[in-house]
Amino acid sequence: MRVDIITLFPELCRAPLDESMMGRAQEAGALDLHLYNLRDWTSDRHHVVDDAPFGGGQGMVMKPEAIFAAVESLRTVTTSSVVLMTPQGRRFTQSVAREYAAKEHLIVVCGHYEGVDHRVIEHLVDAEISIGDYVLTNGAIAAVVFIDAIVRLLPGVLGHEQSSADDSFSSGLLEGPQYTRPAEFRGWKVPEVLLSGHHAEIAAWRKREAERRTRENRPDLLA
Ligand code: ADE
Repeated sequence: MRVDIITLFPELCRAPLDESMMGRAQEAGALDLHLYNLRDWTSDRHHVVDDAPFGGGQGMVMKPEAIFAAVESLRTVTTSSVVLMTPQGRRFTQSVAREYAAKEHLIVVCGHYEGVDHRVIEHLVDAEISIGDYVLTNGAIAAVVFIDAIVRLLPGVLGHEQSSADDSFSSGLLEGPQYTRPAEFRGWKVPEVLLSGHHAEIAAWRKREAERRTRENRPDLLA
């Protein structure tokens, strides 16, 4: 999958997407990542990307010209999906991640300041995505979250193909508790059933615990 991120802070995206599993996804060729600085598409001497809102109000709004120029220079009309990261977007979930994991080419535009000129939303991007009901200082952080969740679903990126099928949310429930050695730590013992070797009982225990955890932490998922 090719991913182009357009942001005022390419370095903010670089470190998290070059590390660990995302780094290996790039080395393996599953992720072809390109980071771009929006200011490279400005044509004025001061590389201005924002201005005061028409009608007045607090803060600054991102101007449309450089965003249109950047996306138009990177987009291939048939295969590219253009996404704007914004708290006003469609809420990002595991099923939205699966939807985007099927795309060939993502162009991710990161918002900043108080917002983005609405003509970008009306006439340029295919979708607006929010990673949750809170406001970050800029969309680059949201873009890293968005891309990480998508890329780990691509074939060959996780060690075990099974591991993303077992994730929280894939089944509609949170993942149940996990334990590893030592079997006793500070007097706290690992549940006996997990040491029993009874696969059916272990599976039943895990299901019960997953349901319990979901009921306690995320009752909205069961409703
Ligand atoms: N930019 C600022 N906050 C955001 C959020 N919650 N999701 C996506 N982009 C954002």
